[in-house]
Amino acid sequence: MNTTKCNEWVARDKKVLAPTQHLSYFPLVVEHAKDDMIYDEDGNGFIDFLSSASSLNLGSCNDVVTKALKEQLEKFTQYSIAYTYGRTSIEYAERLASVYPGGGDVKVVFGNCGSDANDAAVKFARAYTGRTKIITFINGYHGNTFGASSMTTVTTRMRKGMGPFLPDIYCFPFFGNNVPDEECEKNCLMEIERAFSTYLVAEEVAAVIIEPVQGDAGLIPAHPIFMKKLYALCKKYGILFISEEVQQAFFRTGKWFAIENYGIVPDGIIMGKSVGGSLTLGAFMARSEIMDTLPAPAHLFTLGGNAMACTAGMAAFDYMKGEEFQGILARNTEIMNRRLKQLEEKFPELVAGNQGIAMSRGIIISKKGEDGERTPDSDGTFKILYRSYEKGLLVISLAANILRIQPPLNIKAENLEKGFDILEESISEYLNGQISDDVMQFRQGW
Ligand SMILES: Cc1ncc(COP(=O)(O)O)c(C=O)c1O
Repeated sequence: MNTTKCNEWVARDKKVLAPTQHLSYFPLVVEHAKDDMIYDEDGNGFIDFLSSASSLNLGSCNDVVTKALKEQLEKFTQYSIAYTYGRTSIEYAERLASVYPGGGDVKVVFGNCGSDANDAAVKFARAYTGRTKIITFINGYHGNTFGASSMTTVTTRMRKGMGPFLPDIYCFPFFGNNVPDEECEKNCLMEIERAFSTYLVAEEVAAVIIEPVQGDAGLIPAHPIFMKKLYALCKKYGILFISEEVQQAFFRTGKWFAIENYGIVPDGIIMGKSVGGSLTLGAFMARSEIMDTLPAPAHLFTLGGNAMACTAGMAAFDYMKGEEFQGILARNTEIMNRRLKQLEEKFPELVAGNQGIAMSRGIIISKKGEDGERTPDSDGTFKILYRSYEKGLLVISLAANILRIQPPLNIKAENLEKGFDILEESISEYLNGQISDDVMQFRQGW
């Protein structure tokens, strides 16, 4: 594969962009993108299994979204809703409120990204409850503003040298659905309860903020028993239960919100990524009595909830609600399930299974020893994703040995199948020793 022009751009990038800006695994410089395909500066095409980190649930330059954006562009791009009102933010907030799990009287606050939506949750929870403490979970990813960084515990690379962080954040073990029921039942609240009886006053806790499917930890759904018990604990002590949906909302897990997979009505929902229908937007939504506690300008951003982002989000929202999309989603989820199962059956010595829900899946790359014991294979994971890139598939890893499979929800069936064909070829070439150790020099990323 020729990547001459891409390499030149990467060299220029290194001179002017701070290294923290990229977790890039390969020199993919995007020149243009359409739907489920991405094209680099050298004209190479890639099937998209990343959806711009789940921020493009309808893929790149979706026709419906583009049409709406073009119309809005002719009217105005943005005028700060800090000092005026805007039809697009009102109409989009109405739509988001209309799908709040459990219904009810809810309001929305818009920001610019998932991180500031996490900050919003902390501010509103503190203001509403009059309490300061927040509970989060180990391996959670909440973002990179100071508030969100304070709750993020997925890697020390997001902490080192930047503290002190926000006080009163308490982090506890997360119990995924890979934990046996009995063990979960017995242990999942043990540490929180111990904390409540020793150093953490339950009545001083404002909120629990949890990703129903921990994204960057490797796409691990919370154990249903854990969620049920946690929710009951929140109700017992008057703690708000806030669902962090930045990566999983908008049908990534087959529903508007991932929390709906648990039948829980949360006290608040944090949104980012695909809420902006391809543009940058963040939002926090909760019962009106919570949202009415902060006066302006306690949480507003000049461009938060701007007309272009709300227009894109709304166009995507309306399309997702429709039958056509729902049919495509069901078809693609079925293909994903089938192909993931096939991978496991075809490569039992390396593919230990998959985790996640619907179109948000992680393939576990773990070598099986002669004794049957599994060892996570992070080198193998990288070799597979690098070979896939060389073959025209954009796929990355999480948590060292998990291949992140989050294609656009409306990916064409043939491209979804082809992406899995490429994965199969790459795994097979890896197992046959056909991927040289030389590629390891390119390893960056998580
Ligand atoms: C679960 C989750 N929360 C928050 C964020 C932060 O969003 P942003 O990078 O848009 O600020 C991310 C980003 O990856 C995420 O996955």
